[in-house]
Amino acid sequence: MSQPTPSYVLGHDPEELARLERQAAIYDAATRRLFLAAGIGAGQHVLDLGCGAGDVSLLAGELVGSAGAVIGVDRSAAALATARRRAEARGLSQVRFVEGELEALSLEPVDAVVGRFVLMHQPDPARALTHAAAHARPGGVVAVMESHLTALGPGWHSWPHSPAYQRLLDWMLPIISAAGGRIDMGLQLRRTFLAAGLPEPVLEVHATPAGADAPAMVRYMADSLRSMRPTAERLGAPCPSGDGIDALEHDMLEEAARPGAIINGPVVVTAWARRP
Ligand SMILES: C[S@@+](CC[C@H](N)C(=O)[O-])C[C@H]1O[C@@H](n2cnc3c(N)ncnc32)[C@H](O)[C@@H]1O
Repeated sequence: MSQPTPSYVLGHDPEELARLERQAAIYDAATRRLFLAAGIGAGQHVLDLGCGAGDVSLLAGELVGSAGAVIGVDRSAAALATARRRAEARGLSQVRFVEGELEALSLEPVDAVVGRFVLMHQPDPARALTHAAAHARPGGVVAVMESHLTALGPGWHSWPHSPAYQRLLDWMLPIISAAGGRIDMGLQLRRTFLAAGLPEPVLEVHATPAGADAPAMVRYMADSLRSMRPTAERLGAPCPSGDGIDALEHDMLEEAARPGAIINGPVVVTAWARRP
């Protein structure tokens, strides 16, 4: 069966770039933990694949310090403009950004190649990882984080069960698939690392439960669907109207306000290995 034509599902509107910044707050701790476990630290050189608004590059820049260097790569000039502004505002002159396609990169070898939520958007994740990992020096690290959206089923995504959340996922997951995105990339990471010629990766799974902070998670999920609307329209994939998404968000917020309720955000899987 042929793969659907890839088309980056979330786009790069200003609202989407702001959503990426809010997303970073949800995943910062797990990303930091991955980088520390993989030994990313002072003085190292890091390549960040698909840097978007720059959050992973900024975190890496903080860890490597002024003696290190980080290059964030993305195909979107709009995303890179935001990323550059943010790095400058934080005084992180060791972080720079380059426009480009992942599989067309040709850069100096680095100590670590990292990426978050980017392999899921590649038509051939193993081929993309093979190309990217070639930028790690021998003994260098490859460390990535990807979501496993298919884990968001009834019985896991919420307690008590949130019917509105289920409706949102019923819209969202087929749109991602229609755009060629992989909703099960998280558990494909081991296979992808091995197919890219990397050693057995160290794997971890992280849940993202939201209780008192459920409104932020509900907004994150609703905003994700909002960012997907233009792609859904272009691909002819079913998607609620703007008002329809507002109504879903409203219902999810009411359901998340029930006593003791939990809304689980996407399950994420981290994987890292050292290049032989
Ligand atoms: C979901 S965003 C993640 C951004 C960032 N890694 C983060 O976690 O905040 C994915 C980013 O990867 C970029 N991207 C996806 N495929 C790419 C490719 N083949 N070459 C360059 N950039 C790519 C998109 O433009 C987008 O900005």
